[in-house]
Amino acid sequence: MSNKMWGGRFGTGPDRIMEEINASIGFDKRFFAQDIRGSKAHAAMLTETGIISSEDADKIVAGLDAVLAEIEAGNFSFKRELEDIHMNVEARLAELIGAVAGRLHTARSRNDQVATDFKLYIRDTIDHLDRQLRDLQLALVAKAETHAATIMPGFTHLQTAQPVTFGHHCLAYVEMAARDRGRLADARRRLNESPLGAAALAGTSFPIDREKTAAALGFDAPTRNSLDSVSDRDFVLETLSAAAICATHLSRLAEEIVIWSTPGFDFVHLPDSFTTGSSIMPQKRNPDAAELVRAKTGRVVGALTALLIVMKGLPLAYSKDMQEDKEAAFDALDALSLSLAAMTGMVETLAVNDKAMREAAARGFSTATDLADWLVRTLGLPFREAHHATGALVAKAEKKGVDLDKLTLEEMREVEPGITDEVYSVLGVDNSVASRVSFGGTAPANVRAAAKWWRGELGQ
Ligand code: ARG
Repeated sequence: MSNKMWGGRFGTGPDRIMEEINASIGFDKRFFAQDIRGSKAHAAMLTETGIISSEDADKIVAGLDAVLAEIEAGNFSFKRELEDIHMNVEARLAELIGAVAGRLHTARSRNDQVATDFKLYIRDTIDHLDRQLRDLQLALVAKAETHAATIMPGFTHLQTAQPVTFGHHCLAYVEMAARDRGRLADARRRLNESPLGAAALAGTSFPIDREKTAAALGFDAPTRNSLDSVSDRDFVLETLSAAAICATHLSRLAEEIVIWSTPGFDFVHLPDSFTTGSSIMPQKRNPDAAELVRAKTGRVVGALTALLIVMKGLPLAYSKDMQEDKEAAFDALDALSLSLAAMTGMVETLAVNDKAMREAAARGFSTATDLADWLVRTLGLPFREAHHATGALVAKAEKKGVDLDKLTLEEMREVEPGITDEVYSVLGVDNSVASRVSFGGTAPANVRAAAKWWRGELGQ
């Protein structure tokens, strides 16, 4: 049998393999709510413009509501031979209300329909991700408040660099999440134009009102060029690229949690609820959730790459290639959403080992910069000379197997005769972090102020 939705000139139905490669219902059924919402707006516009009668429009809208109810209740049978969500909905509508269902597709095409559905879907997804990112920010701000003065080693090259506060480290991720939200908001703003009414590619001869359908669907305006409307997938690419950057941020925090929770570091302790055991090694507590967040970044970046390659070199306007825009995007955005939830859960529940962090911060000559700064400030040495003298003191301490503050005054004076007792006051990690009061610095006072500022920003 030829396809009843478009099979007028076809003698036979498709090959089984043709049907398999062509059908998208397996994944685009996700659009059912957006598809029906778009169709209702279209039907309302068709009657307001006098293109169809109000009796027909009423039947169509009531029928669409019935289809929606069936799908929501799980009573709908999706059919692969009907290819996609658009034709599944329309075919069921025809079963319910008869031939009048055929009037719904006046002055539109599946090409503008799918672009509209996907934009509505992406818009909803962005709103959801934005709420999740805000939840993550709030969890991090709360940790920053609790740990504004908790000292940990700050690293460069993953080598102990200078002491920082754990609160400051948490707030670094709040900044990243804010930029992620900004990128998603930016993508949302740009996507919010309605393609509905572009029809197959050229527009339509019917006197449609695109402003009306745009407004009914919460778009700011209709798109301006019908060819662009049906061939544009920038909104997916932009969202995936914001998602890829966001997932990359999450992978960094995930990696830090993995490192911090190894016995070698022992900085944080994840609860039973966010770890797993080993089937063979009873002592193990594995940070699987963090590892999976770290790994899922691959899917998100992969989806972006895949769609860029699908779109590359496509001539205008719609090509069936573009049906390949959905699966990877759904998978990636689902993965990001799950990762955000898992990360928020871990941040909320991880216990900080203040003692281990502080001990590690004091090791590795982390206050060497404070010592060099003291030599500049107190003895008036040029910074380069102070750097050199401090290097010699570090070498001395290293040789002796002690930290800088365990060198005696005589030992220090062998390197720089001007050094006095007062130097010991800058060698402690507390003094070091408390002194970092420059704007954006790690001092506990700064962290408290920054956390407060974020609470204001986040409306909490
Ligand atoms: N299932 C199609 C897609 O996802 C809908 C658009 C089909 N248009 C067409 N002319 N075959 O892209």
